[in-house]
Amino acid sequence: MYNAPPPAGRKLHSRAHDARAGEVRGWSGSKTRESELTVQNGVITDDEVDSSRRKFLTTATVATGAVGAAFALVPFVSSWQPSERARALGAPAELDLTKVEPGQMAIITWRKQQIYVVHRTPQMVETLAQHDGQLKDPKSENSVQPEYAKNEARSLKPEYLVLVGVCTHLGCLPKQRFQPGAAELGPSWPGGFFCPCHGSRFDMAGRVFQGSPASVNLVVPPYTIEGNKLIVGVDATEKGVA
Ligand code: FES
Repeated sequence: MYNAPPPAGRKLHSRAHDARAGEVRGWSGSKTRESELTVQNGVITDDEVDSSRRKFLTTATVATGAVGAAFALVPFVSSWQPSERARALGAPAELDLTKVEPGQMAIITWRKQQIYVVHRTPQMVETLAQHDGQLKDPKSENSVQPEYAKNEARSLKPEYLVLVGVCTHLGCLPKQRFQPGAAELGPSWPGGFFCPCHGSRFDMAGRVFQGSPASVNLVVPPYTIEGNKLIVGVDATEKGVA
């Protein structure tokens, strides 16, 4: 854009000088804000005006965009929050162990699965050492359990057995057959679990007997015991119990 030279005899202030003064003067000599009028190389220009306005508009646009993006994210962030129902499904399941007499089994639900909790008698625990040769995975090397349950009793405490009550063959619910020599299982039956769907048999630690269609032992879930309280879904290792 063409800019007319300043009128003769009229001295323009240098920009540095004007910056120090905090103001510039227009042709009329009246004070005006720097954002409205600027002198460059002795020529009046409105470039600074555009630049300042551009900066302002850019900043305003970015700020507005950021606020808009933040509001737009709210519904998505909300949708990422687990619902109360989902939280409840993943919540630990507790059981007062004093309510389970020796020789009895309680069933609780954790993550929509039945959890078998057996209070084993000393006799039940003793039988566990007597039939390793008849088991598919006596040391539980190919089965699923927490490290603290990778032992003969497959448990944190020998008297309490905690299992996911789902057959490792095709997912039926194994039945308790704790009585040794139960009629349908023969006189040598030491006591344990029997799955009626296809005949898998498990001992009092959930270890599968040879000849069963199931290939691995029943699953032991993560759990811990605090006093007389069993908590399924909280790992004993994390609690420093194991
Ligand atoms: S589902 Fe249990 S034996 Fe097949």
